[in-house]
Amino acid sequence: MNSQPTRVIALFNQAGGVAKTTLTQNLGYHLHKRQHRVLLIDLDPQASLTKFMGLVPAQLEKTVADAIIEEKPLPIEENIHGMDLSPSNRILSTAEMQLVSAEMRDLRLKEALEPIIDAYNFILIDCPPSLGLLSYISLVAATHVLVPIETHVKAFEGTNELLQTVTRVKNRANRKLQIAGFVPTRYDKRNSADLRTLGAISTQLESFGKIFPPIPRATAFVDASEERKPLAVYDPNHAVIPLLDSLAAAMEQLS
Ligand SMILES: Nc1ncnc2c1ncn2[C@@H]1O[C@H](COP(=O)(O)OP(=O)(O)OP(=O)(O)O)[C@@H](O)[C@H]1O
Ligand SMILES: [Mg+2]
Repeated sequence: MNSQPTRVIALFNQAGGVAKTTLTQNLGYHLHKRQHRVLLIDLDPQASLTKFMGLVPAQLEKTVADAIIEEKPLPIEENIHGMDLSPSNRILSTAEMQLVSAEMRDLRLKEALEPIIDAYNFILIDCPPSLGLLSYISLVAATHVLVPIETHVKAFEGTNELLQTVTRVKNRANRKLQIAGFVPTRYDKRNSADLRTLGAISTQLESFGKIFPPIPRATAFVDASEERKPLAVYDPNHAVIPLLDSLAAAMEQLS
């Protein structure tokens, strides 16, 4: 265990289905395997992360919404594959509407984290696919933002808005927010269009942050999430595991 301050990493991209949730769960797992204490926060009313971690959202009595709206302590489910989880369900979408008129709304997640932050080395926030308030409060609470970006011709749709949102948060509510980098996802090396897109991601985005090696397209990710497991638990010998571990190692280097 190291003595660095807790890194709070928001996995953010308003584009849908780019592997935010998959990366949150797997990165969290590899950080846990590297001896870190890890909390995952599901800030998406779709509750994919909560499902990927094996919980049934509709059956939950307490969710992250309790902390954000009612300012109760952050509910935490302990030790799921070695990680803690603050879960979500559909109530969070109502909560987002209530937040609109809430006092000091920008700080709601940051303040909810304060009492527990020192108990963790890494807190990973799975943002919803939108530029709305839930993503905004995640960026306000974060020390870093990590952007999964699909290696697809549509990769750049919305990138300007994404970067503008990060800049807006930095200028107003969270000066210290840093871009940890971009993770190209669902990459098919046999597809020449994917190869071209990967090149374009590097040239167009490298001035904003580090471009990590691409995560290949692999159906095992889908199978593992259906089994409610991180990939390394579902298939410990899968070829992608060393790549996920090296991404976790890179997160250790964030200052
Ligand atoms: N590298 C990959 N190869 C193949 N499928 C993948 C990969 N990564 C994720 N997937 C699958 O793609 C789908 C979308 O992934 P995921 O839910 O992580 O994306 P997301 O960005 O969180 O989506 P949303 O925007 O809806 O929150 C899931 O079915 C997931 O299992
Ligand atoms: Mg998701």
